Amino acid sequence: MSAIRYELGSDQILTLTIDMPGQSANTMNTAFREALDETVSKVQGDLENIRGIIVTSAKKTFFAGGDLNEIHKVTRDDGQAFEDMVNSMKAHMRALETCGKPVVAAINGTALGGGFEIALACHHRIVLNNNSLQLGLPEVTLGLLPGGGGTQRLPRMIGLEAAFPLLMEGKKLRPSAALKAGIIDEIADSPEDMMAKARAFIDANPKCQQPWDKKGFKLPGGAPHHPAMAQKLVIAPAMLKQKTKGCYPAPERIMAAAVEGAQVDFDNGSLIETRYFAELVIGQVAKNMTGTFWFQLNDINAGGSRPEGVEKETFKKVGVLGAGMMGAGIAYSTANRGIEVVLKDVSLESAEKGKSYSETLLAKKVSRRHMTEEKKAEILSRIKATDSTADLEGCDLVIEAVFEDSELKAKVTAEAEPKLVNNGIFASNTSTIPITQLAEASAKPENFIGLHFFSPVDKMMLVEIIVGEKTSDETLARAFDYVQQIGKIPVVVNDSRGFFTSRVFGTFVNEGITMLGEGVHPSSIENAGLLAGMPVGPLTISDEVSMTLMQHVRSQSKKDVEAAGGTWNPHPAEAIIDQMVIEHGRKGKAAGAGFYEYPTKGKKYLWPELETLFVDNEKARDVKLQELKDRILFIQAIETVRCLEEGVLRTVEDANIGSIFGIGYAPWTGGAIQFVNQYGVRAFTERAQELANIYGERFTPPALLLAHAEQEKPFT
Ligand code: NAI
Repeated sequence: MSAIRYELGSDQILTLTIDMPGQSANTMNTAFREALDETVSKVQGDLENIRGIIVTSAKKTFFAGGDLNEIHKVTRDDGQAFEDMVNSMKAHMRALETCGKPVVAAINGTALGGGFEIALACHHRIVLNNNSLQLGLPEVTLGLLPGGGGTQRLPRMIGLEAAFPLLMEGKKLRPSAALKAGIIDEIADSPEDMMAKARAFIDANPKCQQPWDKKGFKLPGGAPHHPAMAQKLVIAPAMLKQKTKGCYPAPERIMAAAVEGAQVDFDNGSLIETRYFAELVIGQVAKNMTGTFWFQLNDINAGGSRPEGVEKETFKKVGVLGAGMMGAGIAYSTANRGIEVVLKDVSLESAEKGKSYSETLLAKKVSRRHMTEEKKAEILSRIKATDSTADLEGCDLVIEAVFEDSELKAKVTAEAEPKLVNNGIFASNTSTIPITQLAEASAKPENFIGLHFFSPVDKMMLVEIIVGEKTSDETLARAFDYVQQIGKIPVVVNDSRGFFTSRVFGTFVNEGITMLGEGVHPSSIENAGLLAGMPVGPLTISDEVSMTLMQHVRSQSKKDVEAAGGTWNPHPAEAIIDQMVIEHGRKGKAAGAGFYEYPTKGKKYLWPELETLFVDNEKARDVKLQELKDRILFIQAIETVRCLEEGVLRTVEDANIGSIFGIGYAPWTGGAIQFVNQYGVRAFTERAQELANIYGERFTPPALLLAHAEQEKPFT
């Protein structure tokens, strides 16, 4: 059975329905390419009898895009063959585009990446009115570029300036936004209406050519050599570099393909695009990003570390204790996904204040026309703000997000548990206290688990699920279901001080502070963090977290280690933190003074006294940026390996996804463990040992790393 159904009607309209056998979605794989080849030959043979062509899909989505399984495997050696294959497929699409007859895309479902590029190659795009349908070219988010003509057709359609954000940020648009952006032509109310509109277009345009194939075509918004555009394009690469920090080749190649392609005819532009596409495909960053953001994320979404054999649960009523910053966010994210929420605080006033957080977020959506007033009211009606424990009656799950205080957490656990349905789950959102310890207050420790959300909850996609010593597999599986039900990504970790994310994140912050103590200039430290690909520098984040909180966490950890008979090994950063807080009263951002000054007007700036207190001019002059970047990436990767070694982490997928979505570990690396793999386990180990010799044993390669290095075996 061909992947493209060929139906020539008595009205001489040819409908090409893409329906790849044995696949839930259409992708650009060998079967598709063969079918396209066959279809184009047939069209050429039948051309005299064809008035127009409608391209549509039999799947729920229109077309899912390139086949990442194929793309991921392409090596440097088969780069040329890949380029030839892409050019041949593009030539087929081009043959339809230039056949002289009108070609209409009837987009019945989401069309992203290669799928949307098929639509762009048509003369007219009609989309079904469905607000869950998405359109766009998100290849950049996987380190790739739209290699099916997207970087050439989109600028020719809407101009370079308008095309850049869609191409370089990979924005996905709903039908109404896509219409406004000029990348589709019509919205249809029903599938029948869509086909009727397609026929009407064909009737009205018996001969069709793309604007760029017509004589005298001018690029909308101005060609690259137009003085106004040329001026913008001169500074654009520098601005882009500032954004990508030189870590992400894809946006740079996209810009190059679009600008260079716009200066030649379409067909030569298309060849330029393919060359850049192949360069990215064989490059390491695209391998890292597709490996993690596609394959590993899909593995997690398909069940990841969820124990097998437990029936999937749908949660109906969730209690949230504490309507502060985290509780309010958890309530919002839960109610937003159709679950009833009981939001409890010590007073009704505090609970209502927590609920008003949802109201603010939803009102913003309404004002941006992303939501109707009715939908907003419906979501809000699901949140019951209360000060009464009795209202928790019948909850399937209760999540506590009260102050970080073991005694208080024990008290609320004992109060809330009896209200849960039989076999209900009690979860703690603690950021530091071991789950096994908190579970001591529970009558059913097998039903007790950690659900560690990140702030701001509505934006942060990750939830770290922490399994205590007594937590049952069934509870873990059901907690996993809840996290997926609210649309977040679950990574599973075993109980440990700081769990996974906080523990690794701490090494990043401490390393930056340690550099300051060594005499490195603070702006070099911040810069190194950003250039390594972290979202913010380590000194900025120390101020955000607050140095007093860091002191508190440390003293708690020290107590635990000593209580267990161990010896506390002080980190070199501790003395700097104490000096900042105790000697200089600089606790962080909330206190208005930390490593930065926070003027009431204007931007924050580094506290000038840091230079006098810490900077060693000789050291500051000699410091190598690459060494600082290495330290930042290595220390976190080494700690992540330790987490795997100690069984805190169960899988490499959880490690990579958790490090990027929870800590902001540089996405270009594909995650902390992928960084080790791509560096080469042996080379990484040698470099770690070198860093240990200079900076101390925190860099010493753990045994698991040594074992992998010895066998030159990447982590899988
Ligand atoms: P918060 O101070 O904003 O809110 C705590 C809320 O708990 C307050 O509204 C308080 O009135 C309420 N509360 C106190 N006793 C209560 C009781 N008996 N019953 C019901 N409510 C009660 O604190 P935040 O930042 O929301 O943190 C809450 C928990 O989440 C803590 O355990 C914290 O460590 C953890 N966490 C915090 C993160 C953050 O970025 N702030 C991130 C991840 C976890």
